[in-house]
Amino acid sequence: MTKPFSCGIIGCGSVSVMHCQGILQAGEHLDAFCDIKPEKADAHRQKYAPHAKVFSDWRDFLANSGCDAIHICTPHYLHAEMAIEALKMGKHVFLEKPMCTTPEDLDKLIAVSEVSQGQIAVCFQNRFLACNQVLYRMVKEFGGPTHARGVVTWKREAPYYTESGWRGKWETECGGVMINQAIHTLDLLLGLFGEMPETIDATTANHHLRGVIEVEDTCEARMVFSGARTALFYATTAYGEDAPNLLEVKCGEHRILLYGDQLFCDGKLVSIEEEEVTSLGKKCWGNGHFRLIGMFYDSIREGKPTPVSPASASLAVRVLLECYQSSNK
Ligand SMILES: NC(=O)c1ccc[n+]([C@@H]2O[C@H](COP(=O)([O-])OP(=O)(O)OC[C@H]3O[C@@H](n4cnc5c(N)ncnc54)[C@H](O)[C@@H]3O)[C@@H](O)[C@H]2O)c1
Repeated sequence: MTKPFSCGIIGCGSVSVMHCQGILQAGEHLDAFCDIKPEKADAHRQKYAPHAKVFSDWRDFLANSGCDAIHICTPHYLHAEMAIEALKMGKHVFLEKPMCTTPEDLDKLIAVSEVSQGQIAVCFQNRFLACNQVLYRMVKEFGGPTHARGVVTWKREAPYYTESGWRGKWETECGGVMINQAIHTLDLLLGLFGEMPETIDATTANHHLRGVIEVEDTCEARMVFSGARTALFYATTAYGEDAPNLLEVKCGEHRILLYGDQLFCDGKLVSIEEEEVTSLGKKCWGNGHFRLIGMFYDSIREGKPTPVSPASASLAVRVLLECYQSSNK
């Protein structure tokens, strides 16, 4: 194997454990941690890499950690600025979703990624789950979607927001269920159509935590793609549990249904190789982090295109931002 990459993480909160483990499993080196709460960075150092450097200022970290690759696991509003700065310095960037929170930043990030010496991948890890790979393949074989619907019904209670300091606020989370929880299913659905919808009509609501969160806990949207193909999307965090996500795709006469990680074609269960189960993280995050992180470093080493390009990842953000706009009309 060629020399391992020297990797660092900004934002040592919940999801960062998947990144620490993923980097180590990929055989790369974990050499620096950064968090505005230095005790969190230090806890990661003690657990994963006692030799690592610890920073509390991300600009200092970028300038002085010596890392080749940066994993960005901070609150949403910080993603664009951190990723753009790292790419300008020629660093490789593995960026948690959502890649950005405004159309202007999407354009800026895509532009800088095209000229940077660094490679970037956006963390849409669920694209690489076995069931979703089979779904993509089937829909392609059947000639693409005629129409589709996606349903995400999860549960998030007040402490999830109030204890985080950044969730539930427009300024820092920059949205609710659409930008945070439902973005993965939206990304899958848009990946099947492979284009921006021509029209989007959406409504957002806060049914469950009015007075606790500013952002939406529920959104329903109707999108129309080329050829008058329609998709409906419903997402909420006001349900009683994290129910399995549902994605139904009609391809001509065929009906493909993804329910959680079970795939049905024309009513029959499709046999798919079992996913490896990880004891880390939440079930709803899927097992894709490790796979995607490994693919990211392989792609850099082998001079191949990034597994999740900013251009492809931008589709979901553009659509959800349009849902917010449409809802305000
Ligand atoms: N891909 C997935 O399935 C998945 C799952 C969970 C979270 N996420 C994403 O990961 C990101 C982080 O989510 P989380 O649940 O780990 O949040 P979290 O609040 O647990 O962690 C965020 C960390 O960032 C730190 N931080 C905040 N401002 C900082 C700054 N200026 N410099 C350095 N550190 C700073 C915080 O102190 C905290 O430790 C979000 O974008 C979220 O949407 C993705």
